[in-house]
Amino acid sequence: MRVLIMQEVSRAGLDELDGLELVRGKDPAGCDGAVCYLIDRIDEAFLSTPGLRGLATVSVGLDHIDLAAAERLGIPISYTPDVLTEATADLTFALLLGAARRMGEGERYLREGRWTEWSFDLLLGTDVHGKTLGIIGPGRIGRAVARRAEGFGMRVLYAGREPGELDRVLSESDFVAVTVPLSDATRHLIGPEQLARMKHGAILVNTSRGPVVDEAALADALNSGHLGGAGLDVFEHEPQVHPGLLACERALLVPHIGSATRETREAMARTACRGLAQILRGERPPNLANPQVWPLETGVSR
Ligand code: GLV
Repeated sequence: MRVLIMQEVSRAGLDELDGLELVRGKDPAGCDGAVCYLIDRIDEAFLSTPGLRGLATVSVGLDHIDLAAAERLGIPISYTPDVLTEATADLTFALLLGAARRMGEGERYLREGRWTEWSFDLLLGTDVHGKTLGIIGPGRIGRAVARRAEGFGMRVLYAGREPGELDRVLSESDFVAVTVPLSDATRHLIGPEQLARMKHGAILVNTSRGPVVDEAALADALNSGHLGGAGLDVFEHEPQVHPGLLACERALLVPHIGSATRETREAMARTACRGLAQILRGERPPNLANPQVWPLETGVSR
């Protein structure tokens, strides 16, 4: 059986595919399975490849995959929930702290040789402890961020799908962390109106997907002084970043590294690849993103 490897996968992941023929590239023709990352667009044409019986994505996000087509075509997908929850929550909290304490600005100030003497009001930020944190998306990562917030004595509010929750969380929170997956329902969930509802001086952190936040509106809200800062790991048009954000000192920006620790990336590669190997053996993997396609209607000979 042949598996297409669309981006380089670490040894730990490849070991899970032991015994299968591995080919590198983007073309799934002649392959039984494929391993992709979030930068690979997996559309209906890809999923319709004759003989393709399974997909592994080394990510928890699934917005790069046409899930409706996968369901129609009965293609099971293994993904990487759980194993990246803590690392992503760590980075979310790091961005929250970094934006609150103006760490990006401070580092630039020092490296550029602008620090000539200590002064009482240099780079004053805002307290984190005791403040209110609003979490948009009370899923695994959102709850892991909340656990960290407890250690800082923060009050935590959640916005899920109930009407009115989002408005309340936005208007009462000093910090807002966006941890909701990207879908048609969440694209630009945070736009100009929602940003206007946030408290003056509040800080927005996004470690989910860029398009959940309207980047141009966020740049305006920061540059007008309405928001006190932002910590962003994800962007609407990666790897491009809106010029209004690049120009904004109060935006702490990192290049989509939420799960980027050695331990977590190894675990992700292993989890995704092991799931695909199981699918190809006709076994249901525990990390199936689309359980509705299982049991397979026509079995592994499809
Ligand atoms: C990272 O963004 C992921 O979806 O795994």
